[in-house]
Amino acid sequence: MLIAEEYGELCGYVVGREVAGSGEILNLAVSPDGRRRGLGRRLLDAGLAVLGLRGAEEIFLEVRESNVGARALYAAAGFRPVGQRTGYYRYPSENALVLRLPLGGRT
Ligand SMILES: CC(C)(COP(=O)(O)OP(=O)(O)OC[C@H]1O[C@@H](n2cnc3c(N)ncnc32)[C@H](O)[C@@H]1OP(=O)(O)O)[C@@H](O)C(=O)NCCC(=O)NCCS
Repeated sequence: MLIAEEYGELCGYVVGREVAGSGEILNLAVSPDGRRRGLGRRLLDAGLAVLGLRGAEEIFLEVRESNVGARALYAAAGFRPVGQRTGYYRYPSENALVLRLPLGGRT
């Protein structure tokens, strides 16, 4: 887990894990007041760098199909859709897109 702070206040975080060469971004969030200033991308890049250093060769994550902002962020970082999980999210119920990013040469 990495956090972003401004003036001592928490304004964002990213949570990930690596198991046997496969990495996963479990959560990424920036406080509403801090959005669209590049913090999300910086947190994501920092998280990917840590997962890469720990040996991840590819990264997976799930995102709500309706989450246009996050999907744009992940697409810009090189993530591509590789699957869908029907009804993965609750409150409200929604499908998840599964995204994948190859690391190490970005193949
Ligand atoms: C998704 C989230 C982390 C993005 O954080 P952020 O700090 O606003 O992102 P950035 O400023 O680094 O944005 C980088 C790029 O992502 C895209 N993007 C981010 N938010 C967007 C939005 N609401 N609509 C469209 N594109 C968006 C843009 O391409 C943006 O580049 P630009 O600002 O130059 O156009 C933030 O909106 C958030 O915390 N959302 C709620 C939690 C969430 O949905 N997390 C993802 C779960 S999978």
